[in-house]
Amino acid sequence: MGVVGVADEGVLYVIVCAAGVAGGVGELVAGAREAGWEVQVVATPAALEFLDVVALERLTGRAVRSRYRRPSEPKPPRPGAIIVAPATFNTINKFAAGIADTYALGLLAEAPGLGIPVVVLPCVSDALVSRAAYRRSVAELRAEGVRVLSVDDGGAEGFPWGAAVAALPGMRDSGRRGGRPSR
Ligand SMILES: Cc1cc2nc3c(=O)[nH]c(=O)nc-3n(C[C@H](O)[C@H](O)[C@H](O)COP(=O)(O)O)c2cc1C
Repeated sequence: MGVVGVADEGVLYVIVCAAGVAGGVGELVAGAREAGWEVQVVATPAALEFLDVVALERLTGRAVRSRYRRPSEPKPPRPGAIIVAPATFNTINKFAAGIADTYALGLLAEAPGLGIPVVVLPCVSDALVSRAAYRRSVAELRAEGVRVLSVDDGGAEGFPWGAAVAALPGMRDSGRRGGRPSR
């Protein structure tokens, strides 16, 4: 069993996938911080191309992570909660299938088993939403307690970043600052 870093126990991990809207994730991060969360951004390797990493690091005060640690590096603290936004077709299907070939997926693979709340905000086109594999993945994740929001194919404008933070357990009354959010 791993040791949880007490100081970081309530950190919200925001996992960013390689969707066209990913560059706007700063809006979600700012909203989460406003609601009292410390935020750690984790990007899939493909998502790095879409992000202003320096701006996100300035916003969070933490290095954006995208790869597994080296065996010699210390184990990072366990997240208090995880948001996946934007969540791609690829990452949603891999999460449901139990594939852990990126650091982001490794975090997701363990989260349900550790009782860590996970909110998924999909950004998936109608064509991909219509696929049986995707529908199965969403149903399987929901059956495991993962909160998959019903906002498919968010456009470049108006992607509902705020819905993800609002869906976090114990955070419906946003605006609470400091401390560790209840779960
Ligand atoms: C400009 C661009 C925009 C993309 N937008 C989306 C998207 O909105 N949703 C999606 O599921 N995939 C999208 N993709 C495809 C993903 O980037 C691709 O499936 C990638 O392998 C996902 O990797 P990840 O899930 O590890 O982040 C986009 C690709 C490009 C080049």
